[in-house]
Amino acid sequence: MTAPNDLAAYWMPFTANRQFKAAPRLFAGASGMHYRMTDGRQILDGTAGLWCVNAGHCRPEIAAAIAAQARELDYATAFQMGHPAAFTLAARLARLAPGDLDHVFYVNSGSEAVETALKIALAYHHARGDSRRVRLIGRERGYHGVNFGGMAVGGIGNNRKQFGPGLGAVDHLPHTHDLSRNAFSRGQPDWGAHLADDLLRLIALHDASTIAAVIVEPMAGSTGVLVPPKGYLERLREICDAHGILLIFDEVITGFGRLGASFAAERFGVIPDLMTAAKGLTNAAVPMGAVFARAHVHDALMTGPDAAIELFHGYTYSGHPLACAAAHATLDIYEKEDLFARAARIEPHFEAAVHRLDDGKNVVDVRNIGIAAGIEFAQRDGRPGVRAYDVFLKCLDMGLLTRQAGDVIALSPPLIASEAEIDTMAGILAEAAATVA
Ligand SMILES: Cc1ncc(COP(=O)(O)O)c(C=O)c1O
Repeated sequence: MTAPNDLAAYWMPFTANRQFKAAPRLFAGASGMHYRMTDGRQILDGTAGLWCVNAGHCRPEIAAAIAAQARELDYATAFQMGHPAAFTLAARLARLAPGDLDHVFYVNSGSEAVETALKIALAYHHARGDSRRVRLIGRERGYHGVNFGGMAVGGIGNNRKQFGPGLGAVDHLPHTHDLSRNAFSRGQPDWGAHLADDLLRLIALHDASTIAAVIVEPMAGSTGVLVPPKGYLERLREICDAHGILLIFDEVITGFGRLGASFAAERFGVIPDLMTAAKGLTNAAVPMGAVFARAHVHDALMTGPDAAIELFHGYTYSGHPLACAAAHATLDIYEKEDLFARAARIEPHFEAAVHRLDDGKNVVDVRNIGIAAGIEFAQRDGRPGVRAYDVFLKCLDMGLLTRQAGDVIALSPPLIASEAEIDTMAGILAEAAATVA
């Protein structure tokens, strides 16, 4: 593929458009652990695309499944009609998910999964005759996509400030990241479980009878890999249970092996009432997301006459045949290659490799869990993100794709990464950090 010579028309998402168009970075192809740029350079993928290409790029089995499906059934009307693969996939996903997260609602992205989960939480309380429960609790530094619900419960100032007041009945827990306590932790930090008790403060303030749900990422990825303190998620679960509040895990990043288990819920042994997923569900080959609901949430809505639509919600492309085909083929690969267990097996190597950066220039923290790590840099001249952006550019120059989030460089390679490739990533990152002022 050749590079385009007019970049003006495409308004790029979450991108400094003018800066990018002055010095474009364009992918032309990909295979396994690598991207190929339009200038032919091979780039080692340190971020699985955007935390989504868990099985590596351009897997022929997935491509073949999509192509075959496009020839057989291109689209199936999604409302009051169905197609077999949507049902077989849902049954398979229900078996994969921990606990009784046995019902699957399809969407097309992580953002839509969040909106859907929030709406199901409200509808659940409404169906039980408890429609005063409308308040949603998120967390500072949480990222739940870009739509109005996700933006409201999310906790990133830049993602909110341009877009008005948004949803009203929302509050936030404090985030769990404290460099003075947890810097350079390996896996779950020891300090911070008590921060879950802040939910009791919000309950005292608003009264539990007004709170529908709490939504958190079990591990926050987009704001720079914030690992849950030991006992934190367990405590949230306890408090929610004691007060009739639904707990939602946003597993858009942590689902499908990122933490060495099917989902973070499985790794941490904490089962939420609702769980979102996207990204790794189709290895990112076709956009798709899903919301998993536990039996009691789903069943509460299966009331009224049989002819009644139980949930007035859905998307034209919910359970799209091409996405279902891609997801089936992706799950086949995860199973055949036992990729979640592989991620767990290589986690110690990954941890040791990234912590070789502990003494790196300007590095103020390295943290990790599963196959995810955040390397945090001291701010340059009080300007957030500028140094980490330079590190990102330098890495790309040196043949490694990383992801910059504020002052953090995140590493989250495909789960097929070899130990040698992981060492290469850590080596390039250390060298890039050393050369950046
Ligand atoms: C936890 C979480 N939720 C939601 C989203 C939004 O997903 P999407 O970009 O597919 O809408 C993301 C994206 O990174 C995410 O990390």
